[in-house]
Formats: sequence, structure tokens, C-alpha cells
Amino acid sequence: MDTIKGIKGVKDILPEETPRWRFIEDAARRWALCYGYQEIRIPIFELTALFARSIGAETDIVEKEMYTFPDRDGTSLTLRPEGTAGTVRAFIEHNRVADPLPQKYFYIGPMFRHERPQAGRLRQFHQFGAESFGTSDPRADIEIIALLWRLLSDLSLPELTLEINSLGSSGDRAAYKPILLKFLSQQKSLLCANCRRRMETNPLRVLDCKVADCRAATESAPRLTNHLSPEARTHFDHVLAGLTSIGIPYRLNPRLVRGLDYYCLTSFEITSTQLGAQNAVGAGGRYDGLVETLGGPSVPAVGFALGLERVSLMLPEASMPSSHQVLYYVASFGDHGTKLGLVLLDELRRVGISAHCDYRASTLKAHLRQADRSRCRYAILLGDDEATRGSVILRNLESKAQEELPLAGLSSLLKSRTTSS
Ligand code: HAM
Repeated sequence: MDTIKGIKGVKDILPEETPRWRFIEDAARRWALCYGYQEIRIPIFELTALFARSIGAETDIVEKEMYTFPDRDGTSLTLRPEGTAGTVRAFIEHNRVADPLPQKYFYIGPMFRHERPQAGRLRQFHQFGAESFGTSDPRADIEIIALLWRLLSDLSLPELTLEINSLGSSGDRAAYKPILLKFLSQQKSLLCANCRRRMETNPLRVLDCKVADCRAATESAPRLTNHLSPEARTHFDHVLAGLTSIGIPYRLNPRLVRGLDYYCLTSFEITSTQLGAQNAVGAGGRYDGLVETLGGPSVPAVGFALGLERVSLMLPEASMPSSHQVLYYVASFGDHGTKLGLVLLDELRRVGISAHCDYRASTLKAHLRQADRSRCRYAILLGDDEATRGSVILRNLESKAQEELPLAGLSSLLKSRTTSS
């Protein structure tokens, strides 16, 4: 019979890889809590309108990448392509604005985008995101960038660059658009078909195009940062000065225009040359208008999301603590030994000591082979001879050193050794 395969761009994370994922997620949680962010768990699917309205109907995500399907009653639903929209929806729906501000949330979970799969780009991928609601102070922007930067530095990710830009206020962008369009129409023949279309729908995105000819053609395009209102300029200057004061290096990137429409003022990406074409590890920015766009009050906000597959690709092996998944292999054999082995295995686990046994093995030799494969640190040998003596042999599987220990009270003895080592 044919086997049923997983979906293209949707990966299994196998047991060999999960310690790496847990390590990254634990670090993310620890840093988020340290900065005062609390975990929120939002649904995997929402009404399609939520994403269309927040991310923008004319963005690549909404136009081409969403997994959208009708519910049984015909309502259009979508698997979340990102976490900001759902977090804002929850913030409004639960009237969190009535609670003391700022409200700071983080989330970790799968997101879904129908993109062309390649290294670091999947159709089901995972993000760690953080969102801070309630203050327009540039220190909130600095805090959110610092959280991301400190986490990535803690994980020792190599060759990181923080790229930053200001997208100004919506008024600034409205005033800049005709200036940019005038420039782009002079270059139109040099632009790719996608950019020519974008000129009509979202001209700022042309600046972000990765096609070499488009980049060359827009090299001398007028810069939005030269057309900022005094308020937006001051905000940006404060963010940059704050980053310098806490020792976070950045590179100004006037081309940085995010692929989601809700941003204003600060926008940023952290990239790494280690990642190849998909070089953004994490990205975010300020989105002061989004709560209102989704029907809530006017609440300024800023946030980021980090792509966990990309972190996993870059995480140096040396950053990971070496760990034995299971500590003890119980090698019990012979009639009497096997019976006592069953009880010992249960006792060890009940006191919280990880223990394992391959029930197919019935001789010492077979057990020792399985113990070596199991990557346990110790084997406990318990045959009929040991059973008669009321003892076990504890064998260090690396050094092969052995010692005889009494069977009675063994689990408490090993527990005390584990906690004191
Ligand atoms: P984004 O730039 O679309 O922003 O995604 C953030 C990160 O998610 C990217 O830098 C990348 O590492 C990862 N990512 C995106 N798409 C994929 C994919 N197909 N496969 C693997 N990784 C991917 C957002 O999602 C915004 N919600 C960020 C934000 C939060 N802004 C404010 N708050």
C-alpha cells in the first residue's frame, strides 16, 4: 500500500532535534519573563478578515500565502500566518486596555504561510514573538529590540546585524509616496514585473525588492528618513541613541520596508550572513495604529517575532548543554533478577530519576549492548546472583568503572547522588 507522506514545507521535529528546540524555547521564555513579558496563547486559526485587515489586503502574505478555508457554515477562516494580529484581537476582546498599561505579552508557536519551501523557509514554521502595548515612548522600542538582541546573543548566534529604519507616521508616508512614485516612474522600465505592479498597490515595497536590477534601479531613490516629520525624527533619534547607550550596534537601512502593512516609525530586522537567502532571523517594529484598525481604542504598540527554525539552523552545537536523556539503564536478567528489576525501574521513576530498560533483552550481554545504544550514563546490573546477595552493580557506561551497592534503599541513594552532583 502507498505510504502517506507529510506535506511539503511542513516538517516533523524528531526526538533528536527536540532538545535543541526546548533549549531555544526555554531561553526565549526566560528572557521574555526577565523583561516583564507574560505568555499568551492565542488560537491557531482566526477569521480571515482579522489578517486581511491587519497585515493588509495587498501584501504578499494575504494575497498569496494564507491557508484559508471555509468553515462548515461558510465562514472564511485562516491558519495564522503570524501572531501579532491574534494578540491584538485578544487584547481588544478581553478589554485589556482597562488593566494597567503597559501590557506586555509573548507567544511561542506554529505559523503557516504558503511560501516556496527552502532552507529556513517553511510552510509551517515557528515563531517566538513579543508585543508591548500602551506606550509610545522610544524606550519601549529599545526594550523590545534589546530583548531580541540579548536572547540571540545569549544563544551565541553568529554574525548578527541589527538593521533599522523609520517608516515615519502614516502622514509622513502619505507625503512621501508621490515623491517616491515620481522617482519610480522614471525607472519603471528597469523594474521587475512584480515591482511594476507594486508601484500601483504598495510603492514602498519596491525598495525592499531583492531582484538585483530593481535594487540597482532604486539605489538613489529618495529616502523616507529624509522626509520624516519632526516628531518621527525625534522618536527615531531617541531609539538610535538609546541603542547606543546600551551597547547594541545597528546599521541604518533606508530600504527596510516590512512586508506587513501595520508598521509605523521604528522597523527593524536582525539578519545573519550565515542564513543565505532567508537571512532574517527576527523582525518587528512599531504598530501604533493597529489596535484602532481592529476596532479597539488608540493604543500604541511595538513588537517583534523571531523565526525559530532559523535560530535552530544557526545555533552552535557548543551552546547546547550536553545531556543524557535518561540517566540509568536497568539491566535485569534471570528469573529473580528480572522480577526485582521491574520493581526497581518503577521505584527510580517514582522518585524522579530517569530510567530505561529494553524489555526484549534477556541476557547481560544483550542488555549491555542496548545500554550503550541508549546513551544512558549508567547501567544497573541486576542478575540472579545480585538478587541473592541483595545488591546491584552500578556501571558507569563511559568509564566502565563498577561498584556494588545495596538494592534496599537504592533509589533514595541514587536520588541523593543526582541532586548533589
Ligand atoms: P515577519 O518578518 O513576517 O514578521 O516574520 C518574523 C520572522 O519569522 C522572520 O524574520 C523569520 O525569521 C520568520 N519567518 C517568517 N516566515 C517564515 C517562513 N516561511 N519559514 C520560516 N521562518 C519564517 C512578523 O511575523 C511580525 N508579526 C513580527 C512582529 C511582531 N511585528 C510586531 N510584532
